[in-house]
Amino acid sequence: MKNKQKGIFITLEGIDGCGKSTLANNLVTALKADNHSVLLTKEPGGSKLGVTLRQLLNEQQEPLDAVSEFLLFAADRAEHFRKIIIPALEQNIIVISDRCADSSLAYQGYARGVDINFITEVNAVAMAGITPTLTIFIDIEPHVAAARFAKRGATLTSFEVRGIPFFTAVRHGFETIFKSRNNVLRLDGNETQEVLLAQAIEALKSIF
Ligand code: TYD
Repeated sequence: MKNKQKGIFITLEGIDGCGKSTLANNLVTALKADNHSVLLTKEPGGSKLGVTLRQLLNEQQEPLDAVSEFLLFAADRAEHFRKIIIPALEQNIIVISDRCADSSLAYQGYARGVDINFITEVNAVAMAGITPTLTIFIDIEPHVAAARFAKRGATLTSFEVRGIPFFTAVRHGFETIFKSRNNVLRLDGNETQEVLLAQAIEALKSIF
């Protein structure tokens, strides 16, 4: 499948507060400065449905059933791939997605108990068989990430309020998923953004 796939598709994953959105922005700036065509996108929020979904999930007074929650993320993913990611890859644009399918495995699967095989199968259909060229996983202890939200001072989102035990389960999920993959760059979220960027660029050089 990988041979047939056009373009370079990079995903960034990690628990809330790990620093992946900052790294995604820095990575795009660096690649553009090096004359690459890059598209930065995200889940949820990369498709129109994703923008609505983020708002809808944030407005829930009580958590949605885990399967319903996954299916909403999966619907966004199907829209996102068909309307945004695949057309960009076909034009040889490097696509960087801040979160993708592995977030569903870690959050709805490992942390909320939805069947892993079910998520894997639905994800594959939603992504039309596309797989990431590289996944950058920023690993960080949940209490360090939580301290970052607290420092930010803003009201916590409906995701962030889930607390340390939840994020510990999500982190364990990511670790379990990535153990058996050979296309994952694991970065230490305690490092500075400069170090994270340099390590990500180094890994990308071997792909280009
Ligand atoms: P994110 O966009 O990373 O948060 P931020 O508001 O900090 O930019 O993601 C929003 C939340 O959605 C985050 O807690 C992770 C969650 N999420 C899932 O639970 N499953 C998924 O499949 C995806 C894509 C996100």
